[in-house]
Amino acid sequence: MAARSCLHLLIVLAVAVAGGLLQAARGQPDSNGFISIDCGLSGKAGYVDNATKLSYSPDAAFTDAGTNNNISAEYLSPANSRIFDNVRSFPAGAAPRSCYTLRSLVPGLKYLVRASFMYGNYDGLRRPPVFDLYAGVNFWRTVNITDAAASITAEAIIVVPEDSMQVCLLNTGAGTPFISSLDLRPLKNSLYPQANATQGLVMVSRVNFGPTDTFIRYPDDPRDRGWRPWIDTMRYVEVSTTKTVQNVEKDLFEAPSAVMQTAITPRNASDSIELYWTADPSAAAGDPPPGYIAIMHFSELQLVQGNAVRAFNISLNDQWLDIGMTPDYLYADASFNTVPFRGSSRYNLTFRATANSTLPPIINALEIFSVIPTTNVPTDGKDVSGITAIKKQYQVKQNWMGDPCVPKTLAWDWLTCSYAISSPPTITGVNLSYNLLTGSIPKALSQLSSLTVLYDNNPDLCINDTCPSPNGKPKLAIYISVPVVAVTVILVLVLFCLLRRKTKGSANNTINPHNEPTSHSHGSGSYGHGSMQFENRRFTYKDLQMITNNFEQVLGKGGFGYVYYGILEEGTQVAVKLRSQSSNQGVKEFLTEAQILTRIHHKNLVSMIGYCKDGEYMALVYEYMSEGTLEEHIAGRDHNKRNLTWTERLRIALESAQGLEYLHKGCSPPVVHRDVKATNILLNTNLEAKIADFGLSKAFNRDSDTHVSTSILVGTPGYIDPEYHATMMPTTKSDVYGFGVVLLELVTGKSPILRTPEPISLIHWAQQRMQCGNIEGVVDARMHGVYDVNSVWKVAEIGLMCTAQASAHRPMMTDVVAKLQECQDLEHGRAGSVAEPSIDHVSKTNTIFEIDRLERIPLPTMSSGPSAR
Ligand SMILES: *[C@@H]1O[C@H](CO)[C@@H](O)[C@H](O)[C@H]1NC(C)=O
Ligand SMILES: *[C@@H]1O[C@H](CO)[C@@H](O)[C@H](O)[C@H]1NC(C)=O
Ligand SMILES: *[C@@H]1O[C@H](CO)[C@@H](O)[C@H](O)[C@H]1NC(C)=O
Ligand SMILES: *[C@@H]1O[C@H](CO)[C@@H](O)[C@H](O)[C@H]1NC(C)=O
Ligand SMILES: *[C@@H]1O[C@H](CO)[C@@H](O)[C@H](O)[C@H]1NC(C)=O
Ligand SMILES: *[C@@H]1O[C@H](CO)[C@@H](O)[C@H](O)[C@H]1NC(C)=O
Ligand SMILES: *[C@@H]1O[C@H](CO)[C@@H](O)[C@H](O)[C@H]1NC(C)=O
Ligand SMILES: *[C@@H]1O[C@H](CO)[C@@H](O)[C@H](O)[C@H]1NC(C)=O
Ligand SMILES: *[C@@H]1O[C@H](CO)[C@@H](O)[C@H](O)[C@H]1NC(C)=O
Ligand SMILES: *[C@@H]1O[C@H](CO)[C@@H](O)[C@H](O)[C@H]1NC(C)=O
Repeated sequence: MAARSCLHLLIVLAVAVAGGLLQAARGQPDSNGFISIDCGLSGKAGYVDNATKLSYSPDAAFTDAGTNNNISAEYLSPANSRIFDNVRSFPAGAAPRSCYTLRSLVPGLKYLVRASFMYGNYDGLRRPPVFDLYAGVNFWRTVNITDAAASITAEAIIVVPEDSMQVCLLNTGAGTPFISSLDLRPLKNSLYPQANATQGLVMVSRVNFGPTDTFIRYPDDPRDRGWRPWIDTMRYVEVSTTKTVQNVEKDLFEAPSAVMQTAITPRNASDSIELYWTADPSAAAGDPPPGYIAIMHFSELQLVQGNAVRAFNISLNDQWLDIGMTPDYLYADASFNTVPFRGSSRYNLTFRATANSTLPPIINALEIFSVIPTTNVPTDGKDVSGITAIKKQYQVKQNWMGDPCVPKTLAWDWLTCSYAISSPPTITGVNLSYNLLTGSIPKALSQLSSLTVLYDNNPDLCINDTCPSPNGKPKLAIYISVPVVAVTVILVLVLFCLLRRKTKGSANNTINPHNEPTSHSHGSGSYGHGSMQFENRRFTYKDLQMITNNFEQVLGKGGFGYVYYGILEEGTQVAVKLRSQSSNQGVKEFLTEAQILTRIHHKNLVSMIGYCKDGEYMALVYEYMSEGTLEEHIAGRDHNKRNLTWTERLRIALESAQGLEYLHKGCSPPVVHRDVKATNILLNTNLEAKIADFGLSKAFNRDSDTHVSTSILVGTPGYIDPEYHATMMPTTKSDVYGFGVVLLELVTGKSPILRTPEPISLIHWAQQRMQCGNIEGVVDARMHGVYDVNSVWKVAEIGLMCTAQASAHRPMMTDVVAKLQECQDLEHGRAGSVAEPSIDHVSKTNTIFEIDRLERIPLPTMSSGPSAR
């Protein structure tokens, strides 16, 4: 018996492993592969940047830390880009490191990452901070803000090792980190060969010589690099052309034509061009000087005729970089170093005409980078997704930000990491004895392939009679030593089986309302870390009278009696379902529901706080779901309730699906609800959905059974599985059917049986319309068209799939959850793009000023770029 049960569990866990963890892939890149984030932007709507026509998204989908702030009004300027109007700040909390996660990247591809910062006295403290910036697990640069009105741009070109990358701000004790915007642009791997898997380039300066005012960005530069205009008119004159300057095939830098169309040349034809930069004076003494890469872009813009020659030598300090450089007419060429310069504090670049040259030197553009090592390797990807899922499931706040193990100094609390030389770090220990677990053992633990130690004194396993007794288990240490996922799963399983043996010997702990009070024997103390939901309190009828103020307020009425509103002494709001004394049938349902709710706990199943068995009186006390039933919301009868948005509907669908999936897959034996319908989905203040009313539910008691045979047809018209109707044998697929109807209700806003003109089932009604591809004719008009059509269509399709006549054609709840998750991703994709194109009132689009400003500031690691000597 135990072995078979374990086998069942093994299958469940194997499914969980195979299915992987469904992570919300939010914040999808746009069609260029660009991700453009306006950090600290409130609300869900993004906007189109007038200057670039790029869509900027709010940042909520990219980070779970920090708060939104608007900059102080005195720093608002129509000349500034809108990205600077607000910031996200990360006040000192548990985590010194706060991160953004950029997803859907291509591992091994090169990306340009850009973060911008303008303080604007957003916190009213007039104290611009200094903090560090990390590209993934590697130090990027220090951001030293000295002027509240100045914007600093940090840009790096790096090869991304994983399919996601984090950008992290590290509080170094010199003020609260904040950020104005974050951009990601993909680059071809052949570009910037100096950036590779172990070395990144940090931009120091990127200059477009010639113009005084035109800042060039996307779309003129398809890679959206920012080119700052520069000329010293005392010494140089601009040379320009309107003809296109082309890139050669396999160009390493692809400098855009708009940049290459202008250049500078000395006023005095016998002069040289002399530019310099200086190393960051604030770099700590003793730090090795950073290495620098200079990339100079040239193109001949004038037709050089006859005996005229333009040739020049290029030197850096005393080192020749190029001899006899002769730019090609209207083709971009570049001169650059591959081995970084490491020199003094000042770097002089000189362009001097050779002896036989008749024309002075020119230069069209220049880029200067410092190099950073990107040799820190992030924690093993599977471990990261496993532990991230655990973090998500338990909403861990503490310092669980950024990479779990790297850098070592910032490794997460409660984890033990192993750092091998030749492979990525792995998580070898998790200490969960910190009130983390308030549900079932996370499936995601099985993804931690190197896990050898798991400390946990708070498990709640939903395995029939091995469910935790409120007596609790002693603190438990699990030692697992084989680093293979499958083996881990098996070992976790072995543990479960051991537990099972252990609890078998102990007293039966399911509540039995026919017995005398058992609450005392439920003990206290040892369950101290557990949340309220595990303690099934025993109430007397008198208690209930007090709690409900003598049954004053009726919340609803079920088959088994009325449900009343109540408040416990400590202020918790509850719903009290009191069995009507006249109902005989109620006793059985009462017992079923009490039994099920005692042993299963899931965030999407309504939880029971306690029960009452006092003489003839029987009652169940649940958490209070203030927003009532989903049905009320869909029907819109209560005019105080606003219409649900599509995003809300989708989330409700997904959450209820997760609740049902748990009944079917997370419980052994599986539980069939048997009355899935919109009135049995309750919503709390946050509109979180929970499945309720387990009065008709059945657990399969025999492992071999896939269905249960009963003699009475139960359920609600409009939701009853036709196959069940025919066979009288409900299966988990009967719940799938009912849930399919709920999905159609969510899409259409209609009830399961339409009364006009003739009674017709919602399923047929939707089928007829969808067959003609008429999605608009199906969708609830009260959503006012605010949804992603693909996502609505897909949910409607899932609804129809779930309501297939033959149960074999219906998906399992696990599949439904996965599909709904995809729909949610589609919807988030929409939210990430421009939902409401901004109508720009002030001219925030003055490219010239805005960007000039963006770049004009001194960079912390260096003086303000090349200047004339
Ligand atoms: C910032 O300003 C916008 C528009 O004025 C407003 O909607 C938003 O609530 C403000 N955000 C904060 C954090 O004050
Ligand atoms: C920040 O810059 C200011 C001005 O250049 C300098 O005085 C200060 O030392 C810098 N702070 C840090 C932490 O580098
Ligand atoms: C990256 O470039 C640096 C400098 O050229 C070189 O030392 C290093 O080996 C390169 N790394 C890889 C992985 O190619
Ligand atoms: C141009 O430069 C040369 C050499 O530096 C100098 O001799 C000459 O006087 C300069 N001419 C003008 C017009 O400044
Ligand atoms: C760079 O040029 C300046 C001014 O001409 C000079 O003082 C300095 O010594 C030069 N630096 C190097 C490293 O050549
Ligand atoms: C000019 O001189 C450079 C070396 O100084 C040489 O490489 C080049 O061929 C010469 N060009 C002409 C047109 O003589
Ligand atoms: C340019 O470089 C060549 C080769 O090193 C050298 O012979 C020549 O003198 C240089 N010309 C100038 C003007 O520096
Ligand atoms: C696990 O964490 C708890 C709470 O922080 C601590 O008391 C306990 O000693 C830790 N156990 C191990 C083995 O690290
Ligand atoms: C647990 O399973 C056993 C047989 O495996 C069964 O007799 C018992 O009724 C089940 N308990 C519940 C609460 O489903
Ligand atoms: C958007 O930018 C264009 C050109 O930069 C400008 O002509 C237009 O007036 C701007 N629109 C608004 C609403 O500022």
